[in-house]
Amino acid sequence: MTDPILTLRVAEVTPETDDAVSVSFDAGEGTELRHRPGQFLTLRIPAPDGWVARCYSLSSAPGDTRPTITVKRVPGGMASNWICDRLRPGDTVETLPPAGRFTPASDHRNLVLFAAGSGITPVMSILRARVQEGGRALLVYANRDDRSVIFAAELRRLTEAYPDRFQVLHWLETLQGLPDAARLAALVRPWAAPDAALLCGPAPFMRAAAEALEHLGVDRTRVLTEEYRSLASDPFAMLTASPAQLPADAAETATVTVELDGRRRTFPWPARTTLLDLLRAQDVDAPFSCREGACSACACRVVDGEVKMLRNTVLEEEDLAEGYVLACQAVPLTDRVEVVYD
Ligand code: FES
Repeated sequence: MTDPILTLRVAEVTPETDDAVSVSFDAGEGTELRHRPGQFLTLRIPAPDGWVARCYSLSSAPGDTRPTITVKRVPGGMASNWICDRLRPGDTVETLPPAGRFTPASDHRNLVLFAAGSGITPVMSILRARVQEGGRALLVYANRDDRSVIFAAELRRLTEAYPDRFQVLHWLETLQGLPDAARLAALVRPWAAPDAALLCGPAPFMRAAAEALEHLGVDRTRVLTEEYRSLASDPFAMLTASPAQLPADAAETATVTVELDGRRRTFPWPARTTLLDLLRAQDVDAPFSCREGACSACACRVVDGEVKMLRNTVLEEEDLAEGYVLACQAVPLTDRVEVVYD
């Protein structure tokens, strides 16, 4: 099994606002980061009693020279403060491969984007990618005041570089109050019907944006949301620990066929073992990050049979209807199951 942990060298740390920095990495040999717009990295950060794992969204587009994350300081937050205060060019950090499903389909060329505060980070990756590829994007970006606007200069540059295809509408709470569905809908109404809408920010903001899109008749299946995720466990520990022991009890064992990276393999699947544990024990490089049913890095599609998820806080009804499940939470319900990693 290849080692999924990548070591990245910090190339640059750029202040974005008083409390946010962008960290760019050298994408040298052996550390190529292939990511889709809107994905995140799971970094291993030193802590007083060991290590913690934290997820940070990439703000760079896939074609950019250097993969970049943007991190806002969380008051009292150990990891974000360590990144903002301690990380320097030349330092190295470990990461899991890019993960996440907050990414528009490749044929979604005309996007409406809603971001609030540091929710701009994955949205920035998406809009950079789309306008560079010839697509269109409208961004509604909410902040407390103009000092808290991350990427203010870069957004100005993009509007000047792509005046026909990119527009940003700033919402400043100190001037306009909290955003509500009716006023957000009024802002977005003139923009032609989007292929997709993507939302990232605090929950009340995303609820208001989703309601605005509903008023405008945007189909729910075209709306993608991204939530902040905090990890209770350390996914790196799983990779350095010995492989999980599978139960010897063969009485309740299903059979699973897995298609991943162009290979199909079939394994016996003990009833109370999660699909991810099974695959890692069988030396299969199945993707994952949180292992808590909260990030969707491990998502795969069931094309035959049935599974049950022990926990799911990230897949939505539309995903479930398409057969997506979380491998880190899936146990078999039928004797035969077939899954595909897209
Ligand atoms: Fe995060 Fe499964 S690894 S949901």
